[in-house]
Amino acid sequence: MVKIIAIANQKGGVGKTTTAINLAASLAVTEHRTLVVDMDPQANCTSGLGFDPRMAVNSIYEVVIGSISAQSATQSTEVPYLNLIPANINLVGAEFEIIDVPSRECLLARALMDLHTQYEFIIIDCPPSLGLLTVNALTAADSVIIPVQAEYFALEGLGQLLNTIKIVRRRLNPNLDIEGVLLTLFDARLRLSKQVASEIKRYFGSRVFRTIVRRNIRLAEAPSFGKPVVLYDAACKGARNYLAVAQEVLQSNITPRLANLTGQGPAFGSPSNSSGSKAFSTPSISDQKAASSS
Ligand SMILES: Nc1ncnc2c1ncn2[C@@H]1O[C@H](COP(=O)(O)OP(=O)(O)OP(=O)(O)O)[C@@H](O)[C@H]1O
Ligand SMILES: [Mg+2]
Repeated sequence: MVKIIAIANQKGGVGKTTTAINLAASLAVTEHRTLVVDMDPQANCTSGLGFDPRMAVNSIYEVVIGSISAQSATQSTEVPYLNLIPANINLVGAEFEIIDVPSRECLLARALMDLHTQYEFIIIDCPPSLGLLTVNALTAADSVIIPVQAEYFALEGLGQLLNTIKIVRRRLNPNLDIEGVLLTLFDARLRLSKQVASEIKRYFGSRVFRTIVRRNIRLAEAPSFGKPVVLYDAACKGARNYLAVAQEVLQSNITPRLANLTGQGPAFGSPSNSSGSKAFSTPSISDQKAASSS
């Protein structure tokens, strides 16, 4: 069964695309059939995987507006087991073009249905906004990973995101879970990074990934070579961090799924609920504000 994970945070530059590319590639190198869906008109996932967005004739834009199938927009990448549905700047227009379409929030979910049997994981990279593109991603997803940059004001805006997730869950996708909050761009030399990390852990508890993604120059360089970091420099810290994130995702998803098949519960105390994601109840925004100002 496929697991669809959206990577979302309306804050810009927090590591969404880096996480989408490198989590997906890490799942693929462990031989899990994985698809990346680029839902951001900036198309950074597309270029980061070695495709020129300007050449993407069949892109997620055509898929969302319903002129082609998701299958016909799918490209294979340099990484075995890893495919991509690319984006390009046309996607900016999609938000306006679909505004009057009935069930406009469910277009991506419907389009991806045909692909469910082909993949074990579908990773959706969201734009830095909470508009219709992100709502489509959250409606299509089983769970969401929230990358949070270990910096001052890290919690700012998270209340809005959590609220959007709550609304999507109530109105469109009751099964949407939080896969986890992922600390990114962590600089171990900075006391501030450590303070933010402990604040996030205090606030989100077991919903935070155990792996912290360090600031690593190889992660920043890899996209300019059109490669996930695991192909660019498999031994670097960034590659090892994302392999560890993938291991956590696998542990909390594959293990419970196997256990469900064998009629047993989770095999080793993973912090999971029935769907395998980290147990979650959306904190209220007032809690959020309290946490961010403390
Ligand atoms: N762990 C890291 N170490 C070093 N650089 C990183 C790391 N994670 C991300 N970066 C760099 O930080 C910048 C922002 O990262 P990224 O594009 O993944 O963020 P984003 O949340 O997708 O941004 P946007 O909101 O614009 O889509 C990029 O230049 C990326 O290469
Ligand atoms: Mg991005």
